[in-house]
Amino acid sequence: KINLSGRDFIELSDYTTEEIQYLIDLAVEIKTKHKKGEVYHPLKGKTVGLIFEKSSTRTRVSFEVGTYQLGGHALFLSKNDIQLGRGETIADTAAVMSRYLDGIMIRTFGHENVVELARYSSVPVINGLSDLAHPCQVLADLQTIYEYKGALKGLKLAYIGDGNNMAHSLMIGCAKLGVHISVASPEGYEPDAKITAEAQQIAKATGAVIEVIRDPKAAARQADVIYTDVWASMGFEEEQKAREAAFADYQVNEELVQHAKPDYLFMHCLPAHRGEEVSEGVIDGKNSIIFDQAENRLHAQKALMAALIG
Ligand code: CP
Ligand code: NVA
Repeated sequence: KINLSGRDFIELSDYTTEEIQYLIDLAVEIKTKHKKGEVYHPLKGKTVGLIFEKSSTRTRVSFEVGTYQLGGHALFLSKNDIQLGRGETIADTAAVMSRYLDGIMIRTFGHENVVELARYSSVPVINGLSDLAHPCQVLADLQTIYEYKGALKGLKLAYIGDGNNMAHSLMIGCAKLGVHISVASPEGYEPDAKITAEAQQIAKATGAVIEVIRDPKAAARQADVIYTDVWASMGFEEEQKAREAAFADYQVNEELVQHAKPDYLFMHCLPAHRGEEVSEGVIDGKNSIIFDQAENRLHAQKALMAALIG
């Protein structure tokens, strides 16, 4: 009874708990089909455009490969190679691309660019990362946790570090699925207060506890999942030095993970900086599931494209 055909995917807050669970279930099903070698072509004859204003390894490759595996065709469109990079408006780009394409993914700086593209586009628009949100990553992450733990509701996720796009989408995704989330960030690097309030509002319906605190040990306490991300995201490279100082006490290392449950999962959206936000021992240790996470970008986004565009 869930029909997501024609919808945009800008942030998880636009989707109900049931719709997100539906996408996770579909991702698991599509993954199983793929591993068995079954052909599944809901995007046959369809074309998806992938607009990139920032670098990418996982998002680009998983969307290109995923579209192909679904029977469709993907176009990689670097912002600098299309007229958008020379000042053609987002509105005109959206209108023109809607005449050719069946779906558009965009990775950009300002979140308002994603919103604007979706507004003027008549085909589904997928947010492939903005400064504010990274919902595709969190969809894959929720799928990954679900596969490992068999359930989501009632688990505790600790996010240690920068209150960035990952922190935001994790808070929203956890709130929607009933996962408690404790975010520990240094002063001045907390998540956006509006997003925190929004996540707390959403969590009222699912019973999730959403907290933003200072102490990484308190956040990690009894956690089922420990998650971190780089200290300086794309677009913040010039702040690297200042951030290294601010985040010095926020490394996920052998000492910090002692506070989590013994069977905790370590997660990172990647790319990672070993020795900065996470020690080598933790990211390459037995509790780390970073490559399962990365793989699930493929399956989760295939589910998303099949549901929205297929
Ligand atoms: N996690 C993620 O989105 O990676 P890329 O920047 O390589 O796409
Ligand atoms: N927070 C990181 C995530 C990269 C996938 C960034 O925006 O650069």
